[in-house]
Amino acid sequence: MTAVHRAVLEAKGPVLQFDQPTGFSARGSSIPVVTNLFGTTERVAAGLGVSLDGLDDLGSFLAALRAPTPPDGLRDALSRWPVLKAALSTRPKVVKTAPVQHACHIGPDVDLRALPIQTHWPEDAGPLITWPVVLTRPFGSEPNAAQGYNAGVYRVQVLDRNRLIMRWLPHRGGAGHHRGWARNNKKMPVAIVLGANPATLLSAALPLPETVSELTFAGALNQSRPRLVPARTVPMLVPADAEIILEGWVSPNEMAPEGPFGDHTGYYNPAEPFPVMHVTAVTYCEAPLYLSTYTGRPPDEPAIIGEVFNRLALPTIRAQIPEICDLWLPPAACSYRIAIVAIDKRYPGQARRVMMALWGMLPQFSYTKMIVAVDADINTRNWDDIAWALATRMDPGRDVITLDRTPMDYLDFASPEPGLAGKIGLDATTKIQSETKREWGTVMRSSEADLEFAQNLVNKRMPELQP
Ligand SMILES: Cc1cc2nc3c(=O)[nH]c(=O)nc-3n(C[C@H](O)[C@H](O)[C@H](O)COP(=O)(O)O)c2cc1C
Repeated sequence: MTAVHRAVLEAKGPVLQFDQPTGFSARGSSIPVVTNLFGTTERVAAGLGVSLDGLDDLGSFLAALRAPTPPDGLRDALSRWPVLKAALSTRPKVVKTAPVQHACHIGPDVDLRALPIQTHWPEDAGPLITWPVVLTRPFGSEPNAAQGYNAGVYRVQVLDRNRLIMRWLPHRGGAGHHRGWARNNKKMPVAIVLGANPATLLSAALPLPETVSELTFAGALNQSRPRLVPARTVPMLVPADAEIILEGWVSPNEMAPEGPFGDHTGYYNPAEPFPVMHVTAVTYCEAPLYLSTYTGRPPDEPAIIGEVFNRLALPTIRAQIPEICDLWLPPAACSYRIAIVAIDKRYPGQARRVMMALWGMLPQFSYTKMIVAVDADINTRNWDDIAWALATRMDPGRDVITLDRTPMDYLDFASPEPGLAGKIGLDATTKIQSETKREWGTVMRSSEADLEFAQNLVNKRMPELQP
């Protein structure tokens, strides 16, 4: 299934449904597996309720939400999304009965092995839930205060009939909540949503401002109040219209080695200890579907989602570093390890300032090993353009900055120490004023009229050359 999914994703193909998955359970299952839901940027945008062209506007809205007093350019964004803004302050609707509780397996009837959970790569440690929306709430909060819930997508390893390993990285919302419960020596109630609606899936993966609830944001994108229902065995509310819910408790101190699993870097992660969840109930709707994906060397679905999220993030980044015209994190470089940034350059040293601002001010660039700065005339998404800028506007003796012992994710085994690595910045912008003593080259371009004439002639006389 992983290989089929990858081939279809590479061809920008459709959503896949595997009707009769086999080979995973002693009991067998009649639950079909759905993959490639977010296999194209168009489908990711649709999941957010907009077209690809609408992403920039939604990104401006998110930037305006973050700014305490939005700057002029962004204030307009808030007024263009009045419905969404209003929806963010509406409370979820709590219902008494829900489709997702059509069937309930409780206590000894729980058997996770009856779900068609994929083992994706040959050397994976076991079955891995790849699209869980993990719901947690802070210690001391009320179960019905759903606006304080955190929703995050953290992969979950199946250990046995009723135990899972929660792989929330230490800086995630779920891990923060767990630390709160563990400090009070209490087990934490958790609900895992499998097959949430697309807006909820994407909101859970999106780094939203702290003040915005993922569940409410998803409701706002869907233009409806989120419908929640009390879980059967834990003090939590869960989405009433999901496909499957796993309820349970995460121990304050029980850990188990998670992995190895194939990850977005294209390599297997080493095993690391993470907290264990004891599942007390599995509930599902009539004829449920199990949503899955793989993570692997790009392209994978998270890389496609990342491309869309990066477009959404651009207005937020520009609110802090206004001279940035465009920014691209090539999916092939694991979606964050290399960044290409185009700037509207006005003064000497500006490219270096932008690189240092990205590394220093914005947490999402902490693990970006290489930044290439280019001028606004360079298409940041075109490797030929980037190579031309590097070949003609960059001097390796003058235009390279390197840093040592800066933060890095532990998955980067190329860095000399776990968690600490170097950074490199390549300034491929035009050198101005005191940056150079030499006369700089002038870019050659035909006139617009000549270009148009040539294109018309080619279209007419050599139609087979048309794109
Ligand atoms: C398919 C997929 C798998 C992910 N796996 C993990 C994971 O295993 N651990 C993790 O900490 N984050 C993972 N993430 C990223 C988080 O979901 C994302 O950063 C999210 O914004 C975290 O939410 P939080 O800030 O509320 O914790 C994954 C994202 C996607 C789309």
